[in-house]
Amino acid sequence: MSSELLKALGLDATNAGTYLGNGEWSTATGGELITPVNPTTGEAIAQVRATTDDEYETVIARAQAAFKVWRTTPAPRRGEAVRLCGEALRANKDALGSLVALEMGKSKPEGDGEVQEMIDIADFAVGQSRMLYGYTMHSERPGHRMYEQYHPLGLVGIISAFNFPVAVWSWNAFLAAICGDICIWKPSNKTPLTAIASMKVCNDALREAGFPDIFFLVNDAGTTLSEKLVEDRRVPLISFTGSTAVGRTVNEKVARRLGRCLLELGGNNAIILDETADLKLAVPGIVFGAVGTAGQRCTSTRRLIVHRSIYQDVLATLVKAYKQVEGKIGDPTDAANLMGPLNSESAVQQFLDAIAQAKAAGGTIEAGGTRIDRAGNFVLPAIVSGLQNSDAVVQHETFAPILYVMPYDTLDEAIDLQNGVPQGLSSSIFTQNLKTAERFLSAAGSDCGIANINIGTSGAEIGGAFGGEKDTGGGRESGSDAWKVYMRRQTNTINYSDSLPLAQGIKFDL
Ligand code: UN1
Repeated sequence: MSSELLKALGLDATNAGTYLGNGEWSTATGGELITPVNPTTGEAIAQVRATTDDEYETVIARAQAAFKVWRTTPAPRRGEAVRLCGEALRANKDALGSLVALEMGKSKPEGDGEVQEMIDIADFAVGQSRMLYGYTMHSERPGHRMYEQYHPLGLVGIISAFNFPVAVWSWNAFLAAICGDICIWKPSNKTPLTAIASMKVCNDALREAGFPDIFFLVNDAGTTLSEKLVEDRRVPLISFTGSTAVGRTVNEKVARRLGRCLLELGGNNAIILDETADLKLAVPGIVFGAVGTAGQRCTSTRRLIVHRSIYQDVLATLVKAYKQVEGKIGDPTDAANLMGPLNSESAVQQFLDAIAQAKAAGGTIEAGGTRIDRAGNFVLPAIVSGLQNSDAVVQHETFAPILYVMPYDTLDEAIDLQNGVPQGLSSSIFTQNLKTAERFLSAAGSDCGIANINIGTSGAEIGGAFGGEKDTGGGRESGSDAWKVYMRRQTNTINYSDSLPLAQGIKFDL
């Protein structure tokens, strides 16, 4: 099944990992081989040849040349290019969704959902291409006009993570494309095949319609090439998705060259259940948030803060729900399964280490918490009670399905617990009390970039700006006005009078 799928998406046993432009994929044999592993079986899927230094230089040179053409292509015409990508993705949704499930390990419906996010952001970007609005303002000087406009920025480096191996690229790339930029994508070396397949789908559609190269691809077996990209002054914007630790280094390196950074880093997302919470909504919201994608979303629910009056009931209900999930853990390409494996062996180790740390800190494992005795990286999702929010393991984002459950007494305390972690990505409260909901959303409420009422922490729509505060890095991508980060801003003052009055009433008579 997997070889047919690879073939349908134009992939071979060994694949070039570099799209050089002009329809050419690298032929050099010098690059190291990357071997993505099927997390369901532990077997190699296919190989990908990493980008050499020479190929990197070719990519940069061709991207710079492409930018000269693309920056003056009218934005709605750029939108047409992205529209074609969206159409090509629609036609390949099933195959690409299956490849995401195969290589990353998320369930097939979630793999398809990820491709749907690409299609959605393509549609969004097409509309946005006609709405790159700037303000006009009234000049204080007679016979003068002022306005502000947005110009393309240049080359955009996109470094994405394994957990959303294609959607995060498209959030960046499709907006950057309509903004007139050229993208150079460095995907995770755990998921290079989905990256190559998506590039083929999009770039074939673009070439067929006669568009220039706007999307380039490089692959890195380790981190040397990624560091080069991050330090490259020819790349004014680096969009990085990954851990807080690596993001901090990326930020420092880009700041040193005064480049621009868009960071999407870790989350440690909590759901609060108040005493009025509708558990018919809350329980599936919690389970999807904590167990979906095997807890490997940056928006995954990691903490549950429950009013003491319903704490025991909620815990018992969740333990029962987790038992149901346990019967539906398996091959993610089988759409009947709710949860697949963790993406890597090291992720399993981190999961087991966190469980050991939780136990050592006095936590009780209410459900799961062990490795499943079968091939691949399968674990039983865990519910842990009895820990303090301040415990080190609770403060840390373990990229795995572990849910820490804690009771609270007052809303102030719940909000303090929710905010009392270094990260600030997503948050939610289930309540039927209007005042409680509004307090949670107020300036004194959640400190996260995403705050929801009666919806879980994960599964954000593309239409809103996506990102978070504090250790999450402060970046915003996807919807709303996130496009602005991909453009440079210019204020223009035009004098159509016959004199040269100075601003602030200054007199400078010669
Ligand atoms: C991520 O985990 O990096 O909100 C992105 C969500 C998805 C995106 C997650 N739409 O869960």
